[in-house]
Amino acid sequence: MKITPLNSSENRASNTVSSTSVAQSGIDFGAVVTGLDIAHATDADISAIENAMDCYAVLVFRNQKITDAQQYEFSSRFGAMEQATGDINQSKNRRLAMDINDISNLDRSGKVRARDDRARLFGLGNMLWHSDSSFKTVPAKYSLLSARVIPAAGGNTEFADMRAAWVALDRAQQHECLNLVCEHSQLYSRGILGFEDFTNDERTKWSPVLQPLVRQHPVTEAKSLFLSSHIGAIVNWPVPEARLFIRDLTEHATQSEFVFTHTWNQWDLVMWDNRVTMHRARRYDHTQPRDLHRTTVAGDTTLYS
Ligand SMILES: [Fe+2]
Repeated sequence: MKITPLNSSENRASNTVSSTSVAQSGIDFGAVVTGLDIAHATDADISAIENAMDCYAVLVFRNQKITDAQQYEFSSRFGAMEQATGDINQSKNRRLAMDINDISNLDRSGKVRARDDRARLFGLGNMLWHSDSSFKTVPAKYSLLSARVIPAAGGNTEFADMRAAWVALDRAQQHECLNLVCEHSQLYSRGILGFEDFTNDERTKWSPVLQPLVRQHPVTEAKSLFLSSHIGAIVNWPVPEARLFIRDLTEHATQSEFVFTHTWNQWDLVMWDNRVTMHRARRYDHTQPRDLHRTTVAGDTTLYS
């Protein structure tokens, strides 16, 4: 197994990744893992991957032709697993098991959803910058996304480094952020897009949770901005002022110098640390199928009590 930083000459020259200027901050962001079949990873491989995640925060594995069961098994070696309780389709309406987040535009029969389909419109929230499960009391550690079917064009995923974004703030800005507590909810992120079509059960299930705006990585102790489009309020702040502040901070944190773009090939597996990154999907032709399966490793603890 070999782990090569995205900004290495090898990856730049081979066009393995479409990466932008990721090295400006001096923090390594993103790497490509080669020479590993994840279905046969050893304990030493898992340990090396976890160490690489602490450094690079996003890892790209190419040509991993896996089943959901293999994806789940590999993911669970990094910690306790989340269930897909953030998906809008639950129980018998689901296409996939609750172990897998359904990141697709497909219905239960595998057909592309209509343009005005409720689940599709809800899923458009994935195109806003976010950290997975920041709306849960214990937010996610890692996400692992496997590309099963990809459209002919578009549908890239972009990643932003929240450690670099933190370091690039000046002292006064860091000081202002340090003790702020934000409310996160899927009701807020979908509300940004004008999606208000929630049942009473969904409104209850996804009522806001509190998270600190600045967090620290449990291993590296690097500070990072815990931003997400799920944020709709800051505790003790007027709402319009809070939303403006979060919008400004998000603009700062997603400047091109902190961002790289992943262009999907079928059977890519991309793994990221939600504790130090944000990501978003990009537009594609909604009449074409796009089918990605996500497994999610749960965080260790609540961040605010
Ligand atoms: Fe996501």
